[in-house]
Amino acid sequence: MYNIISDFYICNYSYSIMIPINKPWLDDDAKQEVLNVLAENSLTSPAKNGGKRVQDFENLLKSYLNVKHVIAVNSGTSAIHASLLSLGIKPGDEVILPSFTFVATANSVVATGAKPVFADINIDDYTIDSTDVERKITDKTKAIIPVHLYGHPSEMKKLNDIAKDNSLKVIEDACQSLGSFYNQKQTGTIGDLGCFSFYASKVLTTGEGGAIVTNDDNIYEELLMIRNHGMVNGYDTRVFGLNLRLPELCAAIGISQMRKLDQMLDIRKTNAEFLSEGLKSFEEKGILKLPKEPENKKFNWYLFTIGFNENPHRELVKNNLLKEGIGATIYYDPPVHKTPYYSGDDYDDTGKSVSGDDLLPNTTWAWNHVLSLPVHPLMAKDDLNTIVKTFEYSL
Ligand SMILES: Cc1ncc(COP(=O)(O)O)c(C=O)c1O
Repeated sequence: MYNIISDFYICNYSYSIMIPINKPWLDDDAKQEVLNVLAENSLTSPAKNGGKRVQDFENLLKSYLNVKHVIAVNSGTSAIHASLLSLGIKPGDEVILPSFTFVATANSVVATGAKPVFADINIDDYTIDSTDVERKITDKTKAIIPVHLYGHPSEMKKLNDIAKDNSLKVIEDACQSLGSFYNQKQTGTIGDLGCFSFYASKVLTTGEGGAIVTNDDNIYEELLMIRNHGMVNGYDTRVFGLNLRLPELCAAIGISQMRKLDQMLDIRKTNAEFLSEGLKSFEEKGILKLPKEPENKKFNWYLFTIGFNENPHRELVKNNLLKEGIGATIYYDPPVHKTPYYSGDDYDDTGKSVSGDDLLPNTTWAWNHVLSLPVHPLMAKDDLNTIVKTFEYSL
């Protein structure tokens, strides 16, 4: 029995997983950046604008994303929580988000005292269904959090229009989508705020870390305070905040990662193309559905997620891949609204709690039919071939 870290969880598998679902690419450059921080004895800074590495990292992200402001924080969860706080989201408010996401999206809402209201997803790309979002709006709704799941951009035009018509704010959960585009714009830069995660499994990592992006000067100033206990000059707490600062050691890794971000994304794309080609015959036979980039979207290929038409096919392929040492993973098993903490809260169209899966039918379908495969930059051609061959002998 081996303990392997499969993205968020420590999983007990009876197999040795040689190719995890994601793996950070750390090289001598990253090591040198970290050693420099240690040599300078500059581990962190409580200054309003952060330490030198934090500021350098923010500037690199700013030009990569072509956005006015970036605030680095210590996790993607902190990024979403701080964004909600900066918009004044509070107890009594409602925030609409998908249940088919990592629980951090919902937990960040709960941390403000507001109520998460779950909307269904689209069956083609697993991102939030804007029609269901409209249905879930009440007079308490204050914001929508679309999640660009697996690096698939959500329908931002529709969601921004709905938000505008109903005076709502849009916080993009871009934790999985650094480098994905929607209508030629980077995801995370299209709503009022965008939140990124740099957890170890992400396309760019700082170990733990995150960032918020916005073009709004006032929100930016608010966020700088929220990141640092609401303080500006010493003990002058002006708003509620927390310690959400990114350590300099983490920012140093991020600076090094930024130097090879384009290269890492290129390799992911090449690996995804290889799997698309190798597995297309199964799609032609109607066994499964492969991930596809629509014309107006570009994926970062954080994950390569397949929808199987039959659940037993998924289980068979997953188990055979694990036996081959490939860390194929079912994400959001179960989705947030079915976890013990949230399961009392199946919501009907008016936001009232009821029970039953059919409220979020596409979420339930995805939960039972999707499987994510690795396409990270540290995979060899042989690993990709093993995946294709495993499908061939399984199905
Ligand atoms: C969709 C989504 N939202 C939020 C988060 C939270 O980010 P973090 O783990 O950096 O707190 C993650 C990932 O970790 C995520 O995948």
